[in-house]
Amino acid sequence: MSSLLLARNGRRAISFIGVGRRGTGALPGVHPAPRRFIIDMSYSAHFMDFKGSSIPSSMKKLVVTKLSPNFKEAVCVQTVAVPTPGDAELLIRNRFVGINASDINYSAGRYDPSVKPPFDAGFEGIGEVVGLGLSASSRYTIGDTVAYFGSGAFAEYTVVAAKEVVPVPVVKPEFLTLLVSGATAYIALKRLGDLAKGETVLVTAAAGGTGQFAVQFAKEAGCHVIGTCSSNEKAGFLKSIGCDRPINYTAEDLAKTLRKEYPQGIDVVYESVGGSVLELSVNSLANKGRLIVIGFISGYQTASGIPPFKGGTLPVKLLQKSASIRGFFLPHFFSDYRDALSSMMQMFAKGKLVCEVDCGDLAQEGRFIGLESVFRAVDYLYAGKNLGKVVVEVAPPSVSNSKL
Ligand SMILES: NC(=O)c1ccc[n+]([C@@H]2O[C@H](COP(=O)([O-])OP(=O)(O)OC[C@H]3O[C@@H](n4cnc5c(N)ncnc54)[C@H](OP(=O)(O)O)[C@@H]3O)[C@@H](O)[C@H]2O)c1
Repeated sequence: MSSLLLARNGRRAISFIGVGRRGTGALPGVHPAPRRFIIDMSYSAHFMDFKGSSIPSSMKKLVVTKLSPNFKEAVCVQTVAVPTPGDAELLIRNRFVGINASDINYSAGRYDPSVKPPFDAGFEGIGEVVGLGLSASSRYTIGDTVAYFGSGAFAEYTVVAAKEVVPVPVVKPEFLTLLVSGATAYIALKRLGDLAKGETVLVTAAAGGTGQFAVQFAKEAGCHVIGTCSSNEKAGFLKSIGCDRPINYTAEDLAKTLRKEYPQGIDVVYESVGGSVLELSVNSLANKGRLIVIGFISGYQTASGIPPFKGGTLPVKLLQKSASIRGFFLPHFFSDYRDALSSMMQMFAKGKLVCEVDCGDLAQEGRFIGLESVFRAVDYLYAGKNLGKVVVEVAPPSVSNSKL
């Protein structure tokens, strides 16, 4: 895992080969800017965007100061100088940032145990370019709208290598849902699912950030899709995106329902919960079934991060059914990343993909606005309240930029 997470200046950089504007071309709906301004800010301490709206000298960011799966204990808000982009880097004013279940694995130091606090938190953001270095200006200009998957996203401004950003037509939180959540479902099912028309697919945490995409891609492949969730509202949402059999496990017994309604077993499981749900999923596999381990969220808040799993008879169970369990970790599949994003953006543009975003509008304390609300948003996800991808609005739209 750690070989793909390159620690540099205390930040984690993730390389997206060919995702930028050069190479195989722009993503659908993204039109290269007709002119390129050369604005070298790599050696400048103070800078302005060319439309004249000044960038403040200081900003807020979330920093992991102590390793813990308890996000509030691990992370604090710091006021620091706005960073200056280097030669091949962009300074991005974050408009929205995405919340991931793994934000607490990261704050617990489980990604790269060699990286010690303090380090920056947050995996993904979307916003506008407000500063850039000389070589980055050959591909980007001030005002470009971009999204990225890389560390340090929980900040008002983030410096990202130009080769690691994804140009987007507008700053919409829906695009943010595709970077990690959508890409995980798309690539995992494509590479490890071996889905065939008519097969039965079970998606756990189906109404969440990545689950919603697994449901839609499995349906798109002609499968019968079962999705687990914890409320009737989520079950209704799952129906609306094509899920054939939403199961609200707080209202009906998951094991009994699967046994009764699917006696032949499940062909493919997209499994995100772990522990007893993983055990049940293994026991529910059909002959030649495939179970993809996407995550094990039920254990993330514990000290070990791993929920208990009774695996003693696992080899027997797999052999008797010629079944398999396959692990998936997105950074191992970057060669598939650009195609996945391009395809999902096309589907979204054509209205064939629902990218449900939950900005906390129905949360007790209201919409997630401002960096401090990341704490509330993480709690909200772990309380199972989210419907779709949890997103925090860091800043209001910039008045000087018509693209926002
Ligand atoms: N392998 C990879 O590369 C990769 C990439 C992205 C995400 N993931 C994994 O995908 C899973 C979902 O992540 P996400 O960021 O998209 O979150 P999410 O699905 O948007 O939110 C998590 C959902 O899981 C359920 N949940 C929350 N806390 C739980 C707990 N303690 N025990 C059981 N269920 C709980 C809730 O749904 P209900 O209340 O409806 O059950 C909640 O809505 C996680 O396991 C994550 O690690 C893996």
